[in-house]
Amino acid sequence: MRWNKLLLIFIFSTIIISINGEAAEPEQVHLATTGTPTEMVIQWGTEEDTSAFCPSDNIVEYGIDNENLNLSENGNNDMYLWTTCTHTTLLSNLNPNTTYYYRVGGEGEWSSVYSFKTLEKNPDKITIGAIADHGTSSNAQETTSNMENENLDLVIHPGDISYANGAGSGNGIGDQSVWDEYQNQIESLTSECPHMYAPGNHEEDAEPYGFDAYESRFFNPGQNSFWYSFDFEFIHFVSISSEHDYEPGSTQHTWLKNDLEDANNNRENYPWIVIFAHRPMYSSNGDGEGHGSEIEFREAMEGLLFDYQVDLAIWGHDHHYERTYPVFEENVYSNNSGNLDNPFYKPGATIHIVAGMAGRSTYDGLEEPQPLWSAYREVAYGYTLFEATETSINYKFIRNSDMQIADEFWLVNSIEIQEPEENPKINYNQTNQTEDSNLINQIKELNYLETPLSVIIIAITAIFNLKFRKK
Ligand SMILES: [Fe+2]
Repeated sequence: MRWNKLLLIFIFSTIIISINGEAAEPEQVHLATTGTPTEMVIQWGTEEDTSAFCPSDNIVEYGIDNENLNLSENGNNDMYLWTTCTHTTLLSNLNPNTTYYYRVGGEGEWSSVYSFKTLEKNPDKITIGAIADHGTSSNAQETTSNMENENLDLVIHPGDISYANGAGSGNGIGDQSVWDEYQNQIESLTSECPHMYAPGNHEEDAEPYGFDAYESRFFNPGQNSFWYSFDFEFIHFVSISSEHDYEPGSTQHTWLKNDLEDANNNRENYPWIVIFAHRPMYSSNGDGEGHGSEIEFREAMEGLLFDYQVDLAIWGHDHHYERTYPVFEENVYSNNSGNLDNPFYKPGATIHIVAGMAGRSTYDGLEEPQPLWSAYREVAYGYTLFEATETSINYKFIRNSDMQIADEFWLVNSIEIQEPEENPKINYNQTNQTEDSNLINQIKELNYLETPLSVIIIAITAIFNLKFRKK
């Protein structure tokens, strides 16, 4: 009986292979990073006839002349229970500050020619985009097209990516073709700028899929797709999962503790730590069940963010934009305006961003009252980005409707702010020595007066709370 079954499987497989020998047209081209500036990961999809076999090639041809793609690299591929085959090919030994042209596929089918530009060696500034809760709506497409004009070096996406699983986590089998539609819609941006993801609840489909689509379609440099980290110029990025066990003692929690400990000891090389995941530790606008601040997640992991002084935490899940003051256990550590003349200077706690306004939908309004830890919030479609130097981060939320900067703040870690060269709004380069001195004095005041005072207040509050609870 067993042999009969094996024979049937063999015959069936042979038939499938024989009728599916043709390569398919490449689509869904997207880039990812290993963190190494001289490398680029190229990924793309091919729509195969079955989910059993992927006859399409994994070749990238590339070069610095778009009419002479004289270099070639081969990679590998992966499929899950869907007909999309994802190809992954790593390019290495790339020159800095160079535009590379490339096409993907193989002799059967080649894509058109795309391009990306490598970072210059030791850049003064990098620009990072951050969005979540994207989807395929016209608003989502507007966000993508606006981001294309920003010259982004990297995009991070803390989950709820395509909404192939429209029903939510594990409630039903989603339409996997939505992933293909989504990845084609964002190809113009993802083919020139690497994107790195964290899993959201809409990445989890009913069995037998689970997180298979997310795992199969996106590269990351970690041991699994759910928690990983990488260094990117001035920043140690950490992607974690609010959709998996995060309690103390869990594999993820232990991994995060070790990763953040190492990163905090490596500030000399990577002065900033930025973490991203889907469900927000701080959000004041939940719009119903299962939204708002993810208290269990916060209680399990916020201590690690505080102990190792994570600078920024970027979340999604709630469909608005929100930015907190530096906060730990709901205590505000510094309530600066965040302007360049009154920036956050080593505030002692993490600033949290909710960036779930990329396109899926927005909420009807804002829940009142606004908590003290919430510095700014707005319901509007748009995207966030931040410019980072060795000594400063300038974070912005830009709304789609008028392309204005709706919110902006500065976070600095040194009195010698390395201002980006091009900044038409602020023109810091035109300030004179006296103004520089004023800025430095202000920052000193922030650091040496405000932060210790707030710590004392928090300590007193904690002691009172403890006594109150005992009673
Ligand atoms: Fe979500």
